[in-house]
Amino acid sequence: MLLKTKQLMCAATVALFTLSPAAYAARDNVITVPSCLLTASGAHGELLAFNEGLMLVKVDEEAMEALNDTKHKTKTPCGGFRNVTADWQQYQHNSLVKKNNTAFLNKYTHSAKKSHLANKTYSIRYQKQANELISQINPGLMWDSLKKFSSSKDRHSNSDEGVAAASWIKSQIEGMAKSAGRTDVTVTFIKTTGYKQPSVVAKLGTSNEAGVVIGAHMDTTSGRFERKPGADDDGSGSMTVMESARTIIASGVKFKKPVYFIWYAAEEAGLVGSQDVVAEFTEKKISVDAVMHFDMTGYAYRKESTIWLIDDNVDSGLTKFLEKIVTTYTNQPVAYTRCGYACSDHASWSEAGYTAAMPAESRYEDTNPTLHSSRDTIDNLDKNHMTDYAKIATAFAVELAEPVI
Ligand code: BES
Ligand code: ZN
Repeated sequence: MLLKTKQLMCAATVALFTLSPAAYAARDNVITVPSCLLTASGAHGELLAFNEGLMLVKVDEEAMEALNDTKHKTKTPCGGFRNVTADWQQYQHNSLVKKNNTAFLNKYTHSAKKSHLANKTYSIRYQKQANELISQINPGLMWDSLKKFSSSKDRHSNSDEGVAAASWIKSQIEGMAKSAGRTDVTVTFIKTTGYKQPSVVAKLGTSNEAGVVIGAHMDTTSGRFERKPGADDDGSGSMTVMESARTIIASGVKFKKPVYFIWYAAEEAGLVGSQDVVAEFTEKKISVDAVMHFDMTGYAYRKESTIWLIDDNVDSGLTKFLEKIVTTYTNQPVAYTRCGYACSDHASWSEAGYTAAMPAESRYEDTNPTLHSSRDTIDNLDKNHMTDYAKIATAFAVELAEPVI
């Protein structure tokens, strides 16, 4: 009986998503999406596979925007979609694999791989050096950078402004290295599958030991119909990471392990840039010990200064250590919250077996209500709250990459 009901439900959902060629002529993306989100959004696409709860569909960008809108405007508890186009294309071209859409979809249904460092314990070891660096963080500079960063029409991953944002970050970091007289900083672009905007990777240090990743996503949703300043989502995280990078580069401090500051492209398109970055690190055998992700650091719900830690799609050991970092270096209260789905780029790392953690500006339910709208401006944000996250990023780099004393 149960089985029959399920079959009926699936048949009903399938009927809603029949092929409509005109609807996805513009640009095809293959996504995994919870059936309940797809139903609620009314978006159309080509159904490739389904299992309990999740569907694999081919959709255009308009459908993806509808999914994004539904997710945030109606606050569905369904979970988000994920763009798996790059993986899908590779799967289609892999002549050794017998093609089976359901098997492909099932890869995304099961929880993240266990990280290879899951049982590692961490301790605070470099308080003097971390505090010295933290004292050099410049909140005013960070704020001015955010003003500039959120002043364009959008930073959408297929817009010229999105590409300009990536170039601007690259040239800012290169300028910082130059004025500090450092030759151990290299900034590169990593191409994004299907989108114009590349991700930016700034490597600090020359060693090939397992490194530390500190990142944020720089893109916004599309500003085609109205401006999308993305000041909080995720201009705030992007400029938090940039100020931490500036502080560390300007200080001249050197670490035993490399630090990778990363600004991901096309997060809003379904974690596309970060999946490409993770694939590149894995292919090139660039080892990574720990990943910290900042997605929205500027909005303080009811002016509360609590630092929230995401507890799903992350490594629990690293997250416990993050709690220690917060209490040691910010003096703010810590609390836990969860997205309930792969809500940002930390999930791309976790999924691939890396050790990742993510602090957040507020409880998930109390997040910035202007998210993805033209009202996501700097006026709703709190410089002090953002500065606390820059302290966390900086202390994380020092404690895990280890200063050369
Ligand atoms: N910044 C959000 C994720 C988020 C929302 C974090 C609320 C914390 C609180 C991110 O840019 C986003 O919009 N993610 C999408 C999913 C993604 C796979 C397209 C989402 O949440 O629907
Ligand atoms: Zn977003």
